[in-house]
Amino acid sequence: MTEIRPARAADAPRLTGLLTQLGYPSDPAAVSGRLSALLDSATCQVLVATAGSRLDGCLALERRLTLVEDELAEITAMVVDETARRSGVGRALVRAAEGWAAGEGLHSVVVRSNVVRPESHQFYEGIGYRRKSTSHGYRKEIRG
Ligand SMILES: CC(C)(COP(=O)(O)OP(=O)(O)OC[C@H]1O[C@@H](n2cnc3c(N)ncnc32)[C@H](O)[C@@H]1OP(=O)(O)O)[C@@H](O)C(=O)NCCC(=O)NCCS
Repeated sequence: MTEIRPARAADAPRLTGLLTQLGYPSDPAAVSGRLSALLDSATCQVLVATAGSRLDGCLALERRLTLVEDELAEITAMVVDETARRSGVGRALVRAAEGWAAGEGLHSVVVRSNVVRPESHQFYEGIGYRRKSTSHGYRKEIRG
């Protein structure tokens, strides 16, 4: 039986494995630090899907305030363990995320999904999301 709950600091080691599956291999201490900052943030939420002692998936989202449109919620990370896919875990995580966003008084949830993840496109379309745009991502390392 899957349970969706807010993440706790103690989830960091198991989240590290999930983030590797998402293509973001990380040092457990780094994940622990990031999770701690997210847990302290008033505008972010991290949800996990558990089944007994297993952690089957996670989703991070945040309030996003921009100049160009009304504030909304953005899913910034989402992954279901390879062994638990296609059993409704992802759908349950997104439903809980939508509930959090509604509780925050927000009316839209957005997510950017890389073109290298075709299963996620079918997933979002399958749970009621509609493609709004296709874009390129740019990044530059800067000196502080
Ligand atoms: C995308 C992902 C989160 C989906 O999680 P999941 O738990 O397997 O999804 P669900 O079982 O809740 O699927 C819900 C619906 O989405 C659709 N769907 C999900 N995965 C699909 C796939 N591989 N192919 C086609 N449709 C799919 C189906 O309509 C499904 O309903 P159904 O099983 O009743 O047919 C998971 O595949 C994953 O973690 N992928 C790797 C990481 C990733 O792409 N993350 C998203 C980054 S934005």
